[in-house]
Order: sequence, then structure tokens, then C-alpha cells
Amino acid sequence: MSLTDGEPFEQGAIKCEKPCPTATPNPKARGCDKMDGEVMSMRSVGIVGLGSYVPEKVLTNFDLEKIVETSDEWITTRTGIKERRVAAAHETTTTMAIEAAKSALDDAGVSANEVDLIIVATVTPDYFFPSTACQVQHAIGAPNAAAFDLLVGCTGFVYGVVTACQFVQTGAANCALVIGSETLTRIVDWTDRKTCVLFGDGAGAAVVAPVPEGRGLLAFDLGSDGSGGPLLKAEALQSCCEMPTSVGLNGRPTIYMNGNEVFKFAVRVMADSTIAALQKAGLTVDQVDLIVPHQANIRIIDAAARRLGVPMDKIFVNLDRYGNTSAASIPIAMDEAKRSGRMKEGDIVVATSFGAGLSWATFVMRM
Ligand code: ACO
Repeated sequence: MSLTDGEPFEQGAIKCEKPCPTATPNPKARGCDKMDGEVMSMRSVGIVGLGSYVPEKVLTNFDLEKIVETSDEWITTRTGIKERRVAAAHETTTTMAIEAAKSALDDAGVSANEVDLIIVATVTPDYFFPSTACQVQHAIGAPNAAAFDLLVGCTGFVYGVVTACQFVQTGAANCALVIGSETLTRIVDWTDRKTCVLFGDGAGAAVVAPVPEGRGLLAFDLGSDGSGGPLLKAEALQSCCEMPTSVGLNGRPTIYMNGNEVFKFAVRVMADSTIAALQKAGLTVDQVDLIVPHQANIRIIDAAARRLGVPMDKIFVNLDRYGNTSAASIPIAMDEAKRSGRMKEGDIVVATSFGAGLSWATFVMRM
């Protein structure tokens, strides 16, 4: 089943009653009022700032050779991953989310006071409650913000951006922070070589706000297929669950994954979802400047690129340094792409992801 309401927006079709920040050519200069739930009109909205945070501690493939029966050669050729970051004792999903959020606000030139919505996508929250988003709200000093967590899996950041865009596009919010933050190394079974080599920790964030007409979100494609749930999971409360157990060491929940099935699903869905979103935007693959895919496995990205007929130089890859950071992977990659000059103002950018659920999510944006 697929959600298909991501048609191209009729930007500016309805006239704003209030002075519209869209009219401001420099997105950094527009104001962000307190969220009051009032729906104004459709306006252009996009990402106006990006930030990220990764832990200092690096775990290389050679380090992993000492933990499980594996090799740098196997991990590199099967996944493309060379190293990943591991959170230190003082680093958590929340602390990393806070640092990424501050960095994104700084990049956007927006103060925390102006933020009226915070969404944190994570599958590794420090607590069931309070939400990570509420802790971020307090830590960054955003008194005007509504805040909630989004649990979708690796697609969480893209789902979060699309959700935030709906709020800002309608005028229900003016300035949203969307954060993907994960400490996956804390739910990895370090005796399972099939999964422990894949994951890493980190956080990325985006500020979503009104942008000049013609810029910002052009279309999206979100979807889910819960029948694939047992292929990729970590249990929370082991209650009435028919799925086989994934509880690992010391009774802690750990990641279970059917790698081969997820691989096939990922290749198919990343290409199909990208094409679906581009069609809704009225664009072809050739018009795309950069694709930022979920960073899970270079072979998945390669295969999806071939299916799309896109050369690899149009695809941003940093999984060699971070592994799979789930909901954090796309915002970390987008932040790096921007800071390194690979993603520039005016570029047509596709962010596409697959993950637990199973789920998939793609947005097309003119930066
Ligand atoms: N080191 C050495 N050997 C290994 C390792 C390892 N780390 N892991 C598995 N092997 C072995 C297996 O035991 C198997 O040996 P056998 O043939 O003797 O039984 C052999 O390698 C092949 O195993 P496969 O699982 O068939 O290996 P495959 O080429 O499929 O690669 C992988 C496995 C990397 C997990 C791949 O299936 C994959 O990338 N799947 C998708 C993973 C993914 O993206 N998941 C999403 C993560 S969560 C998310 O993003 C939402």
C-alpha cells in the first residue's frame, strides 16, 4: 500500500492573508512566529539549514575483526563500509540530537526561540517517554515549539521532513526542526556478524521553513508494507508478538534482520519510490542534480542507481565512514553534501530511503 498524496503543489494558488515569509528572498531573513494552529494557505517550504553530529570514537573493520569472525575484505566488498562511529558513555540519542539541532539552527541563521515544531525521528530513543523531541526542546531553549518523536525506522527523517513541510506549508507552523538521531550500536548484538558490522551512531538535523516560490519541496512519495515487518526488527515490549524473538544478550532487545530479503526490497523500492516522486514533481531523472540515498550498503545504492539509469557521480555516498545510522543517515549525508559543495542552492535534490516497517520515503526538493 502506498500513500500517494505527494502531487506537485499549487504554490501561491491561494493568497496569504498574513504577510508571507515566502516573499523574503533570503530565507535566513524571514521571521518565524509562534505556532498557533491556524491554517493560512499553501506556500513554498523547504530545508533552509542543515547540521550534524557524530561521535569521535571510530570503530574500523579491523577493530571488528577482533570482536567477531569477519574481515575488512568481507565487510568492504559486501557493504562498502570501512568504519563507523560509536557513541561514548556520555553521548546518547538525545545529546547528539541536541548538537545536530544547534548546528542546523546556526546554518539557517534561526534562533531556537523561532522554532515552533520539533520532530525527532529515531528508533533508539533514550526513553519511551519523555520523547527525545521534548528533551531537545528544553535543551536548545525553544519555548514556542510543539515537539514529538517519529518512529518509522531508517525512513524516519524523510517522513519527518515531509510531515514538517505540511505544517509549514499550511501556515500551521513557521519554522520546524527535523532531527534524525540514533545510537544503534546500543541495540546491536555484538556476537552477530551479519548485523553488527553494518550500523553506527550519529545525528543530523534540518530546519524547515518557508522559501521563495519555486524552491523547496516539489513532491514526495511515502509508503509502507507491514507484511514485511518480521524481516527487520527490534522488540520493545515482548508482549503478544507472533514474530520470532530478537532479544539478544542480557535480555536487551537487539536488531534482527533478514539481510537478503531486505536487500531485494531496498533495491526495488528506492528506485520505484524515486521515480514515483519525480513523476509527481513533473521531473525526469536527468533533471536531478544529486540523489542522497539512505546509507545502508553500497551494493544496494549501486543496484538502485543502475535501475534508475543514474551515474554514481550524481549520488552522494558517505557510508564508508559512518555505516548505517538509520534515521540519521540522510541528514548527515545532506549536511556533508552541502558543506562540501556537492549540494548547492538551486539544485534539484532527491532524498530516498527504505527501512523497517517495511517502509519507504522519498522527497524531491529544489534547494
Ligand atoms: N563477515 C564474514 N562473513 C559474513 C559476515 C561477516 N560480517 N556476515 C555474513 N557472513 C557470511 C554468512 O554467514 C554467509 O556464510 P555462509 O554462506 O557460510 O552461510 C555468507 O557470508 C553470505 O551471507 P549473506 O547474508 O548471503 O551475505 P550478503 O552478500 O547477502 O550480505 C548483507 C549480507 C551485507 C547484510 C546484505 O544482505 C545486505 O546489505 N542486506 C541489506 C542490509 C540493509 O541494508 N539493511 C537495512 C538495515 S536497517 C535499515 O536500514 C532500515
